Amino acid sequence: MKKILIITGGNKGIGSGIVSAYKNNSYQIISIARTLNQLDEYKEVKQIVLDLSKTEGLENAFSQILNTINKDIVERIVFINNAGTLGKIGRLETNSVSDIQNIIQLNTITPFLLTSIFLKETQNWHCPKKIINISSGAAAKPYYGWSLYCASKAAIDMMTKSVAVEQEAILNGTKIIAIYPGVVDTDMQTQIRKSSPESFVDVQRFIDLKESNFLVKINTVGQEIFGIDSLENYQNGAILNVSDYR
Ligand SMILES: NC(=O)c1ccc[n+]([C@@H]2O[C@H](COP(=O)([O-])OP(=O)(O)OC[C@H]3O[C@@H](n4cnc5c(N)ncnc54)[C@H](OP(=O)(O)O)[C@@H]3O)[C@@H](O)[C@H]2O)c1
Repeated sequence: MKKILIITGGNKGIGSGIVSAYKNNSYQIISIARTLNQLDEYKEVKQIVLDLSKTEGLENAFSQILNTINKDIVERIVFINNAGTLGKIGRLETNSVSDIQNIIQLNTITPFLLTSIFLKETQNWHCPKKIINISSGAAAKPYYGWSLYCASKAAIDMMTKSVAVEQEAILNGTKIIAIYPGVVDTDMQTQIRKSSPESFVDVQRFIDLKESNFLVKINTVGQEIFGIDSLENYQNGAILNVSDYR
């Protein structure tokens, strides 16, 4: 029997910390991103190159990924919507149509689409099934300059809660949660620190967090997310903050 993790953006950042934690716990891993991680530790990770900011072909590609798995030998399957972007930082009116489309596509539309395909394709699987959405504290707290990011993540939180209600009504429905990972040392934080104070008024706070060594390492947060997944001591549809589990 096999334990399987499918993750978007498993090649770098928080995703690579999550991959490491699940790999150490004997999961077979499929990661979807635009680029490949060439490190040795990724030799056993099936990496699929796909641009998740484009919907064309996505439904077929993700259905095929699920259809290549022999459901009869799956002990447990976890799907993590992790790939995401901050998009362009700045007041809403500084964003072009394509800026708006790109961030909402990657952070919101694609997770909705992939979640929907996962639910459909695995509905007759007998193993335990779980979806974890990597959300953000920005879903619940507005930040000057991040209106699209905050709203894109707030939509993910409500999707998590609503899908949980639907899945609770189904025999062997899928469990679904969202997790706020906290402030993690990734390229996304580098992008934040490069913002001008005019586009992001809180930039100095994030520079200070880095300088005081306050950013969490990707492997630490990966293990914490794995730990929360394993605990199962929360309701279906829960929105969880990693810092509450330290
Ligand atoms: N870092 C933080 O402090 C923090 C805090 C709260 C929430 N988060 C959330 O955590 C998640 C991971 O963020 P991170 O900090 O690890 O960011 P990151 O280092 O920038 O990594 C982003 C990941 O998404 C993938 N990705 C980006 N655009 C993509 C596209 N068009 N198609 C396919 N994959 C794409 C990237 O791979 P490729 O570039 O190879 O495509 C990469 O694996 C995001 O959802 C983010 O919102 C992060």
